[in-house]
Amino acid sequence: MTRLRLHKYLAQCGVASRRQAEALIAAGRVRVDAEVVSEQGRLVAPESQRITCDGREVRPATRLIYILLNKPKGYVTTTRDPQGRPTVLSLLPPMRERLFPVGRLDLDTEGALLLTNDGEFAHRVLHPSFDSEKTYEAVIRGAPDGQTLQKLARGLVLEDGPTAPCAAKFLAILPSGHSRVRIVLHEGRKRQVKRMLAAVGHPVLALRRTAYGRLRLDGLAVGEYRFLSADDLKKFFL
Ligand code: URA
Repeated sequence: MTRLRLHKYLAQCGVASRRQAEALIAAGRVRVDAEVVSEQGRLVAPESQRITCDGREVRPATRLIYILLNKPKGYVTTTRDPQGRPTVLSLLPPMRERLFPVGRLDLDTEGALLLTNDGEFAHRVLHPSFDSEKTYEAVIRGAPDGQTLQKLARGLVLEDGPTAPCAAKFLAILPSGHSRVRIVLHEGRKRQVKRMLAAVGHPVLALRRTAYGRLRLDGLAVGEYRFLSADDLKKFFL
């Protein structure tokens, strides 16, 4: 009988990425044969044990789904929210499969968000060794000079360490005197774009992710989504 680690089984079944599955386990949301298992590394035998997450039985995913959503502001990128705010899942049609977001965007950030039930895919995409490029456009207070853009591009030190080199480009000055910049990151730390721009004296007023890797939003209005094709997926792993 096949035995495997609980978090890996949850990821294979499309409950979450492996890392997120560990968090679900730690939060006491996962049971094996009615026992809440909150320690990591537990070996399970899914053929003979009943595994549930939030009371729902976890079974191998039959259909793997990949979606690109143009997330609106005001939606959380978790699968449920203790404060009752709407989640990005509420923008999708009802589905038997449980989807979850790959990574996160802040409540007030718009733009490209991937959702899937393929935990292994999410694990690969989110792993630091998988260099997924994320493109953001930000409206910022004031207008940055060339030196400031260079500083952003070379990397600066935030409270959780130095940022990796990235691309930083001035796009336009707006009638309000604010400006629009493009930042292309190869890492994905919490609130990273906002923290980087605040650190150089240009707080972010609005933020949108325009592309995730080579997947662009073209044609997707805010709140719309599309299912990814096999070709889209290939782009990820080329
Ligand atoms: N950087 C941020 O500051 N916020 C996001 O939502 C994504 C990247």
